[in-house]
Amino acid sequence: MPAVGMGPGPGGKAYPGNLTLYVTVTCMVAAMGGLIFGYDIGISGGVTSMDSFLKKFFPSVYRKEQEDSSTNQYCKFDSQTLTMFTSSLYLAALISSIVASTVTRTFGRKLSMLFGGVLFCAGALINGFAQAVWMLILGRILLGFGIGFANQSVPLYLSEMAPYKYRGALNIGFQLSITIGILVANVLNYFFAKIKGGWGWRLSLGGAVVPALIITIGALVLPETPNSMIERGKTEEAKNKLKRIRGIDNVDEEFDDLVAASDESKMVEHPWSNLLRRKYRPQLTMAILIPCFQQLTGINVIMFYAPVLFKTIGFGGDASLMSAVITGIVNVAATAVSIYGVDKWGRRFLFLEGGTQMLICQIAVAACIGAKFGIQGEPGNLPKWYAIVVVLFICIYVAGFAWSWGPLGWLVPSEIFPLEIRSAAQSINVSMNMIFTFIIAQIFLTLLCHLKFGLFIFFAFWVVVMTIFIFFFLPETKNIPIEEMVVIWKKHWFWSRFIADDDYPGHRAVEMGNGGNGPKSV
Ligand code: BGC
Repeated sequence: MPAVGMGPGPGGKAYPGNLTLYVTVTCMVAAMGGLIFGYDIGISGGVTSMDSFLKKFFPSVYRKEQEDSSTNQYCKFDSQTLTMFTSSLYLAALISSIVASTVTRTFGRKLSMLFGGVLFCAGALINGFAQAVWMLILGRILLGFGIGFANQSVPLYLSEMAPYKYRGALNIGFQLSITIGILVANVLNYFFAKIKGGWGWRLSLGGAVVPALIITIGALVLPETPNSMIERGKTEEAKNKLKRIRGIDNVDEEFDDLVAASDESKMVEHPWSNLLRRKYRPQLTMAILIPCFQQLTGINVIMFYAPVLFKTIGFGGDASLMSAVITGIVNVAATAVSIYGVDKWGRRFLFLEGGTQMLICQIAVAACIGAKFGIQGEPGNLPKWYAIVVVLFICIYVAGFAWSWGPLGWLVPSEIFPLEIRSAAQSINVSMNMIFTFIIAQIFLTLLCHLKFGLFIFFAFWVVVMTIFIFFFLPETKNIPIEEMVVIWKKHWFWSRFIADDDYPGHRAVEMGNGGNGPKSV
C-alpha cells in the first residue's frame, strides 16, 4: 500500500497513514449512494417518452404529441405537465437536504444515508405499482427525499474518511456511481420499452429498489467517520477507528486536529446563521455558485432529453435511445479519467480544461443545428453523417463535463467546509444543485422552442463565466488535509481579505508569500 502524508501540505501538516484496504472498501460501499441519484436521472427521461406510460397517466400529453403535425422541431416536445412530473423530485430533494443537515450533524452521516435508502426504496415501490397520477407524484416525492438525504451525507462521508492525498479519487467514487446509475437506467429503458403489453415502465420505475437496497444495506454495515464520532462525543472510539482506517498507530496529529475542529464546532450554536459570518464568505460563495454553475453547463439537457434531442436531429426511436446509451458510456469512462487525475493534476486543471472542451463543443453543436434547422426548425431530409457529427460533439462535451464539473461539483464543496459549518453548508450545496436542476429541467423545452439552436449558446455563455470564475477565485485544494483547508483562503489574492489571523486557532501566525509552499502554521 502506498504511504501517504510524505510531504507537508500548505499548512505544514503531513498526517501519516496508508491507503488501507479498509478505507478503500468502505469508500466504495459508501460511494454507491450515488446510484439512486443516477438511476433516477437516467430512468425518468426514458419512461416519460414511453407511449404506454403517457397514455395511462398523461393522456392529454399523449394526444397532443400524436396530433401535432407542425414541422417546427424546436417546439414539438414542449409540455409543462410532463416536465413538472420529472422535476417535482428535485423540489422534494431540496427540502429534505435541509432536514438532512440536522440529522447528519446530530446523529451522524450513516443515519442520513440509511434514511436516504429507505425513503428511496418506498418511493420506488409506490411508483412501480402506481395506478394513478397521485401515486406517481407521492412516489417521486419520496424518491426526492431519499436523494436529498443521500447527496447530503455521502460526499461528506467520503471526504472525511479518505486520506487527504487520495480524497479526490475516493470522493469521485460518488460521481462514478451516479454515472453508472444513469447508464444502467438508460440500458434498462431501452429493453423495457420493448416489452409487449406496455408495462415495461413499471419495471423501470420499480427497478429503483435495487440501488435503494444497496445504499440501505451499505449504511447499516458502514462505520461512522471519526470526525462525526468526535462531533458526537465518542472520542475514544473515534481514535481507535482512525487508527484502523489509516492502518497505523500514530494518528495523534490528525486526531488532535479533528478534536480541535470539533471543539470549535461545539461553540457554534446556530450553524445556519454562523454561515453568514464574514470568515465563511469564501465557503458560502462556493457552496452557492459551484452547484449553480454545474447545472448551468447544461448537462442535464443531455441527461434528461438525449433521446428527444436525438429524435429531433433525425434519428429513429431506437437509434435515439441507443445514442443515449452511448453518451452514458462516455460519461462513465470520462469519470474514471477524473478519478485517476484529480489528485495528480489538481481540481483547477480539470475545471479549466473541461470548461474549454465543453465550450468548443457547445459552439459546434449550435452551429451544426443552426445550419440545418435554421430559425424555422424545419430541417428537411438530414443526412446520416450529419447526425453522427452532432452525436460526436455531444460525446466530447459529456466527456468534458464528466471529468470536471460533474465530479468536482460534489467533491470541492465537500472538502472545503470546516466542521462547524460542514453539514449546513453541504445542504446549501445540495439545495442549490436541486433548484437549478429543477429550473433547467422545467424550462429547457420552452427555451428550446424560443431560443432554438441559440440554447446551446446560452449554456456556452455560462461555461465562459464559470471558467473565468474558477480561474480567478478557486484555489487549488488537492493534497490538503480537510481540517487544514483554512490556509488556502488566507493565501488567496482575493479571499484573504475575509480571513483574520486570529480566526483560526492553530493558524495564528500565517505567513504570506512563502515561496509557493503556502503559509506555515505554528
Ligand atoms: C450532476 C447531475 C448530472 C450528472 C451527470 C451530476 O454530478 O449533479 O445533475 O445529471 O452529474 O452525470
